[in-house]
Amino acid sequence: MGSDLWQRRSIILIGFMGSGKTTVGRQLSRRLQLPVEDTDKLIEQRQGKEISAIFAEEGEEFFRGLETGLLEEIRDRERASILSVGGGLPLRPQNRSLLKQCGTVIYLRTRPETVYKRVKADTSRPLLQCRDPLTRIREMLAQRQEIYESCADIMVDTDEMSVEEIADRVAKEISDRHWRAAEDRGKKGD
Ligand code: S3P
Repeated sequence: MGSDLWQRRSIILIGFMGSGKTTVGRQLSRRLQLPVEDTDKLIEQRQGKEISAIFAEEGEEFFRGLETGLLEEIRDRERASILSVGGGLPLRPQNRSLLKQCGTVIYLRTRPETVYKRVKADTSRPLLQCRDPLTRIREMLAQRQEIYESCADIMVDTDEMSVEEIADRVAKEISDRHWRAAEDRGKKGD
């Protein structure tokens, strides 16, 4: 792969709701001097309403379609960014292959109890507005875990780590991968 193509590869953070994608994304953006974006925020801006209103008025399938359209746009453009994506975005097989085309995929893995602690007072996530959110989180994570793992290039277990530690780890893993790829290109005389 030519070096110009490396410059175009984004860093994408996936993981369950409350896994810290948005905050880690901001930290990484400062460290790596790349712009940061968030699919939920972009969708809210473009639709002019919050995710919970989109779910309530248009339904989940409509929202999933918006996520796919956005990923196609991101795949087709020239510049790289740090991109945090909604927790359900990797569920569509089409989105998983789009993620791969956009760049390096990082899975921030989190236990259900950690997620629960972080999101229990938050009403912005329609899928967790129910009587027993912890059970819901456990069920959803059990269904999604394998999907997240199947599209990740790098996985980080985040439960015992601060945002800074997670960002450090991701930045190091990315830089190691870049060096390894550069070495491989060197060996092939690329
Ligand atoms: C969702 C996760 C949310 C948001 C929507 C659906 C999901 O994003 O896209 O509420 O299906 O897991 P965050 O993961 O950023 O909370």
